[in-house]
Amino acid sequence: TLTQAEKAAVIAIWAKVATQADAIGAESLERLFCSYPQTKTYFPHFDLSQGSAQLRGHGSKVMNAIGEAVKHIDDIRGALAKLSELHAYILRVDPVNFKLLSHCILCSVAARYPSDFTPEVHAAWDKFLSSVSSVLTEKYR
Ligand code: HEM
Repeated sequence: TLTQAEKAAVIAIWAKVATQADAIGAESLERLFCSYPQTKTYFPHFDLSQGSAQLRGHGSKVMNAIGEAVKHIDDIRGALAKLSELHAYILRVDPVNFKLLSHCILCSVAARYPSDFTPEVHAAWDKFLSSVSSVLTEKYR
């Protein structure tokens, strides 16, 4: 679980990220599909070319969900319960992919806000994304 200082760091960087959430979401997915092309197999029904409407729409949904997790940072499990069931039971996304996407989100945020991305913010944001991923993968069996 995150310490009070880590929660505060996540909330502070999110205040900036939220203003460009759609762009950061799309960039994170572009990084994911570019660096780890095997992840594209989950999206056979999508046009994944750079800047496509589907890619931007999906990036926006992903960042919205992360925003909900920030808003309910003391109850991430409750905030993402429905999404957790979707990813586990319906989409069946292999949990390793959550680490890859988290890494790409982290890079997108770092690239956009380099001076805010101190080692402490990096660590807190990484831990937060890891909590989100744990919640989204805990229903697997
Ligand atoms: C759908 C969030 C990780 C694959 C979704 C949706 C959200 C979301 C909000 C839309 C749900 C809806 O329409 O009701 C997240 C978050 C993630 C994450 C917050 C981790 C931080 C992943 C990963 C993959 C993945 C790692 C696979 C590489 C999918 C797919 C869909 C989906 C295939 C359905 C897309 C569609 O047909 O519209 N996700 N997701 N997700 N997610 Fe994730």
